[in-house]
Amino acid sequence: MRKKFQGSLLMALAGISVATMAQSARPVAVPRHVQDIITGRCALCHGPEGESASAVYPRLAAQHPDYLQKQLRDFRDGRRVSDPMSEMAKDLKDDDIAALAAFFASRKAGARQPGDVELANVGKYIFNRGNGYSGVAACASCHGAKGYGTEQLPRLAGQHPAYVETQLKEFNKRARTNDNAIMHSIASKLTELETRAVSVYIGGLE
Ligand code: HEC
Ligand code: HEC
Repeated sequence: MRKKFQGSLLMALAGISVATMAQSARPVAVPRHVQDIITGRCALCHGPEGESASAVYPRLAAQHPDYLQKQLRDFRDGRRVSDPMSEMAKDLKDDDIAALAAFFASRKAGARQPGDVELANVGKYIFNRGNGYSGVAACASCHGAKGYGTEQLPRLAGQHPAYVETQLKEFNKRARTNDNAIMHSIASKLTELETRAVSVYIGGLE
């Protein structure tokens, strides 16, 4: 108790905001004009910390910076199509994109979203083992056993199930094509039930 109090007193003396410390895993310096973009635009849909309270907007917090940068450039340059995001990204410079990506990547991942347990169990099987009968590769083989992704591959853990499901369907239909067809070939083999189940499982990963 006493130690904790002394700790916060020291941080207060050092001028470090305790609130900032609690919210962010790795604080980053954000240029003023980029902070204005975050507060004035991105936060409206993705939340000020990238936590995205609404299920239709993807969580950005704790996502890999390289992946975030690639997506923002793809929206800006028309390789990934989305009405709101094409508009949002159209005037962003490469430096702004790098700063936005670094900011959201530094934020703490949102709480997991456990759903229907039995459905999530079907999803867990697909995630870890794939489907040997239809040729679906295990998601874990690329996105990692915990869904944390890699520098090149997106983190999936804790993402909103509704967003994940939509993306899988978009990859399948080739409405999203900025994946070099990797995700298309996987999504095209998933059944409706498997798509829903794996999305629910992913939402529950922390
Ligand atoms: C009007 C709502 C809205 C605003 C404002 C908005 N976004 Fe988005 N964003 C979306 C939607 C919707 C998607 C999902 C697009 C899709 O379905 O392909 C998205 C997707 C993204 C993605 C891709 C995430 C992933 O996991 O692939 C990134 C990165 C992103 N937004 C960053 C930003 C940044 C940075 C800003 C501020 C400059 C911003 N967004 C402002 C609605 C918004
Ligand atoms: C062979 C490697 C590989 C496997 C296996 C794989 N993925 Fe992916 N996945 C990728 C790559 C690469 C991307 C990034 C595409 C891009 O850059 O836009 C991606 C992107 C995604 C996205 C978009 C994330 C976002 O934030 O918009 C989702 C959702 C996804 N994968 C789900 C899955 C699921 C579910 C499985 C298992 C059924 C799976 N992936 C298996 C390579 C893989």
